[in-house]
Amino acid sequence: MSRPRVLVTRIIPDAGLDRVREACEVDLWDDDLPPPREELLRRAAGQDGLLTLLTDRVDDELLDAAGPQLKVVSNFAVGFDNIDVPAVTRRKIPAGNTPGVLTETTADLAFALLMATARRIPESVEYVKQGRWKTWGPMLLMGVDIHGATLGIVGFGRIGREVARRGRGFGMTILYHDVHPATPEEERALGARRVEMDELLRESDFLSLHVNLTEETHHLISTDALRAMKPTAVLVNTSRGPVVDPEALERALRDGEIFAAGLDVTEPEPLPVDHPLVSLPNCVVVPHIASASRVTRDRMAEMAADNLLAGLRGDRLPTPVNPEVYE
Ligand code: DGY
Repeated sequence: MSRPRVLVTRIIPDAGLDRVREACEVDLWDDDLPPPREELLRRAAGQDGLLTLLTDRVDDELLDAAGPQLKVVSNFAVGFDNIDVPAVTRRKIPAGNTPGVLTETTADLAFALLMATARRIPESVEYVKQGRWKTWGPMLLMGVDIHGATLGIVGFGRIGREVARRGRGFGMTILYHDVHPATPEEERALGARRVEMDELLRESDFLSLHVNLTEETHHLISTDALRAMKPTAVLVNTSRGPVVDPEALERALRDGEIFAAGLDVTEPEPLPVDHPLVSLPNCVVVPHIASASRVTRDRMAEMAADNLLAGLRGDRLPTPVNPEVYE
């Protein structure tokens, strides 16, 4: 029997790629950059499965280019805002993502950004590298305290809760906002209290974002939201770039409306090197690396392979984003 044909749109860890190679004829896009759109459309044609990344837009155009034999789309990410879910569902194609395995690694990076911005670590490293360290200074590179501060979490899902747990270890007061409140037992276990968004903005010393990107969360952190925050507050974004209005953030950081921001995700992505947010000293930008530990990326690759292979066999995906295709 002929083996299924699949397109893998970037090199992923062997932990997953080897499994896919054992079972399928693989067309691997092995460049460091994503396939240009025309190339993606061309290579998708006739494939039985697509293993995609958050940098590939999966929409009607791509699904049409792939053709009616396409059985499965497996996204190497927990976020799936790159996938037009109604478009895959209309075609009865299951799409999978990689939830759970990157929760703690992402929470670690959110906390690392929180600490780096609060204590001005990148600025301090630069200060030393530039040979400006002449003496101990009572006024030198002062930041804001983390211990005892109030940590506000927007989106209290898996990752948000892990960030809360880390905050508890630092003696922080935990507030959160989510349209789906946690149960009283969950709140007790995490020492967290749900508040409305305006109170969260007002009260938080650190605001960490953990929502999906949807029409409702697009530019959730707007000029008004930033103005409602404390001038000493730090914003951390490890969710999706467009949750924050970049122009509003730039203004807020420049005018001292908030103290600092730590961004793993940006709008646009990548952020051009001459973008003002890159050069502002109180903005720490890293290139969307929240899940980038070796172990976690291996697990993501295994999970993406499992979803892909299940879909090719006609089995239910372990983690479908559109379980309605099975109804
Ligand atoms: C995701 O999985 O959605 C992250 O943004 C990348 O790991």
